[in-house]
Amino acid sequence: MDLFRYSSGELFVEDLPVRAVAEAAQTPCYIYSRGTMEAHFDRLVEAFAPIQPLICFSVKSCSNIHILRALAARGAGMDVVSGGEIARAHAAGVAMAKCVYAGVGKTDEEICEAMHAGVGLFNCESEEEFENIARLASEAKQLVRVALRINPDVDPKTHRYTSTGKKETKFGVDLERARAFFARFGNDPWAKLEGLHLHLGSPIYTVDPYREALEKTCALVDLLARDGFSIRSIDLGGGFGADYESAQSPALTQYADAILPLAKPLHDKGVRFILEPGRTIIANAGILVLRVLYTKISGEKRFIICDAGMNALLRPALYGSFHFMWPVAPGTEQTPTRRALDPKVPDTVAQDVVGPLCETGDFLALDRLLPASIKRGDLLAIFTTGAYGMSMASQYNSHVMPTEVLVDGTHAELIRSRETYENLLAPERHSHQLAIHGVHA
Ligand code: LLP
Repeated sequence: MDLFRYSSGELFVEDLPVRAVAEAAQTPCYIYSRGTMEAHFDRLVEAFAPIQPLICFSVKSCSNIHILRALAARGAGMDVVSGGEIARAHAAGVAMAKCVYAGVGKTDEEICEAMHAGVGLFNCESEEEFENIARLASEAKQLVRVALRINPDVDPKTHRYTSTGKKETKFGVDLERARAFFARFGNDPWAKLEGLHLHLGSPIYTVDPYREALEKTCALVDLLARDGFSIRSIDLGGGFGADYESAQSPALTQYADAILPLAKPLHDKGVRFILEPGRTIIANAGILVLRVLYTKISGEKRFIICDAGMNALLRPALYGSFHFMWPVAPGTEQTPTRRALDPKVPDTVAQDVVGPLCETGDFLALDRLLPASIKRGDLLAIFTTGAYGMSMASQYNSHVMPTEVLVDGTHAELIRSRETYENLLAPERHSHQLAIHGVHA
């Protein structure tokens, strides 16, 4: 579900024409629909109501502080994975006690920042990391709460780059070692080991991996109880799907139907549940709007050259991901009725949609059926880009970053302004000599 729809031959975001928003904000531009993300958040709350989870929005999926603030206002906590994301959550006014801090490579500096900020829970990924957190907590004489990230060895059946719950990945501690982990660290006085964390991968379009992983988690909870360790929180991570094509993803209630029968008995015994969704809340709430700079024919192929490519949206180049795209004002004859590889619209031809960067890998779609009439100056909307769109954008080829706009009904707010070349150059403007001691020629 989302609030981007065609009416009278042009695309609207909530109650505003996308063309007007993109022209005011300048392209490349990400446009988010507040109503869409709030509706997805509310659906999650409803679907999982029987276990009343703390829903920690995964900041890495879309990190603009205005988006974070809007979700926090709805009751969300945040899943953060770096000092920078903690700073973003802080700037957005999110209660730090509602933040969970994950990541396989937390630096000492970041751990101290997180402790100082009062982050609610550290999701710890290895024995060495636990020892380090415990050392820093005891030095600071500050109690921290820790959950062990377990690796349940479940195949989420997603892209191998974003599959995290299999044994051979770098994430978490495998189930066999988890028991020994608690035996070794479960009574630490400063780092209170009291929870389990898992995240299987992203996106996951079937519910079975969740069921399988939770079954294994429940068995571990029982074993740990026998060893004298009671689990107070279970964080099930994120990974719920989004509609890259129309109606591609299971309803959130379907995920809940798989998870609740196992989770509810634990909830009733006092275990607190946490979810870390990103994509399912924000992917369909965002589009990227680009301007067509040129079209050309080379060999047999027609190219549409836009004012941004993998610098603004990396997913097609990195994962071969499909994103539906269509002109912002195609006219009534060519309005698509569904988002799919072939939207069944007359007068289309296969075309490559590419960016301005100097490499062949800079594409947004290859051989895509699009209106033959697309021409220089048209605006193109790329759908389902709210998650891992802007947050993975770069300044490669020294292009400035896209702008971002948050739309609420008829109200549009520029939440990230257009960068200037001065922004681009600022960290390089002033060089100074590093003081390095002990170097003898
Ligand atoms: N929790 C943890 C520990 C994670 O690593 C992730 C995502 C999430 C939660 C949120 O997952 P979500 O609900 O958004 O699926 N760049 C890739 C996705 C990488 C996901 C990384 N971890 C993409 O564009 O598909």
